[in-house]
Amino acid sequence: MTDSRHLIGLLLGTENDWPSVFEHLVRRTGRVEDGAGNGHTFDVERITVEPFDLRYEPSYDLVIDRLAYWYYHPREWLKKVALMDDVYLLNSPFTFQAMEKHAAYCAMIRLGLKVPTTVLVPYKNPLDHAKYAFTAERYNRPFDLDEVAAHVGYPLFMKPYDGGAWVGVSRIKDAESLHRAYDESGEMLMHLQASVEGYDVFARSLSIGAETMVMNFDPDQPMHARYSVSHDFLSPEVGAEVVSIGRIVNAFFRWEFNSCETLVAGREVHPIDYANACPDVAITSLHYYFPWAMKALLRWSLFCTATGRKPVSHVDPTPWFAIADRADLSYAEKLAAYDAIADQHFDTERYRDFCASRLGHLDEMAVDYFESADFDRVLVETVTSTFPTHEHDQFVAHYRGLLASWCRDERGRLA
Ligand SMILES: Nc1ncnc2c1ncn2[C@@H]1O[C@H](COP(=O)(O)OP(=O)(O)O)[C@@H](O)[C@H]1O
Ligand SMILES: [Mg+2]
Repeated sequence: MTDSRHLIGLLLGTENDWPSVFEHLVRRTGRVEDGAGNGHTFDVERITVEPFDLRYEPSYDLVIDRLAYWYYHPREWLKKVALMDDVYLLNSPFTFQAMEKHAAYCAMIRLGLKVPTTVLVPYKNPLDHAKYAFTAERYNRPFDLDEVAAHVGYPLFMKPYDGGAWVGVSRIKDAESLHRAYDESGEMLMHLQASVEGYDVFARSLSIGAETMVMNFDPDQPMHARYSVSHDFLSPEVGAEVVSIGRIVNAFFRWEFNSCETLVAGREVHPIDYANACPDVAITSLHYYFPWAMKALLRWSLFCTATGRKPVSHVDPTPWFAIADRADLSYAEKLAAYDAIADQHFDTERYRDFCASRLGHLDEMAVDYFESADFDRVLVETVTSTFPTHEHDQFVAHYRGLLASWCRDERGRLA
């Protein structure tokens, strides 16, 4: 019987809300005993950016990253600690290689998922003008943008192949706006994608390790109102399909902290945005679902460190494509077979058992915390630093109400 201490590192950008909450939860977790009777304790620390000797040994067992997608120094630090020191990463820069929509679309289409018709068009104005002009003159085949649009069909979406945060996304109804949008795309590489018209539900799934939460999302609302608190907004079958698609894409690319978007029209589920490294988990966006996200991050971090889960960062399409390429399997049969691979990858059964048998105390601890003055302070600080002064009272009340409603529901569930 031994006792080991596990240090979780946080690699952060501008946010202070969820890290403070996560730190509180980790510190309140206490000692966890594994099946063999060994004890585990946990601590958490924010990582600073500084020179590092490639041979130094970091003290972290696991790192949650929300920075390295954008900044190269911490990205290279992550690669070093993954390659040399076996630090477990959520997410790994080695999997960022495919952290754009394009690769996810390609994989999903091969897997038979219902991605709308999508075409990648060449740059309007590439970065390196002089060389491009020469190369383009030799090798770029002139193309008729209107013909491409006719193939995709109007209305369509033009959006960056690697986009995020709706930058450069436009909905296009006719040839005139098509040409304007392409001219304005300048140095961005763009997809044209058929629009899923008149969909019933915009389902946004947030996945953390083996867990996925599907939320009812309305992109036309302001930030504080995009996620509505609603349960059972999808039929059980469609809900299960949306969860499966998220888990499948994440297991395929080895993403363990990702958000995914599907548009549900009737019984049909269309994936549109499936590669969001370092997804937003702010209180002000997730509100009611924020405690779930924090608990899932906590549970997955504890599971990975206490059980010594081995990170896998290489993509291995072989077992997936073996199913994908079979003509005798229906769409539903393929999804079920992919789901089984995803379960294997995430070690879902062992994870569930670990949560049930080792982390039973976390639910009560978390709801106590979310009802506490400590948490309320974080909530108030976050709201006052996010909204203009004249909106502080309104939004403090708004978020307090949503979090209180989660606490009530959670108390009911636990009773
Ligand atoms: N094929 C599509 N059909 C309908 N709406 C779409 C489609 N593609 C994008 N959209 C709309 O545009 C928004 C931004 O597109 P998305 O692909 O999610 O880009 P980003 O990565 O910038 O979030 C989506 O949230 C959705 O509202
Ligand atoms: Mg999106």
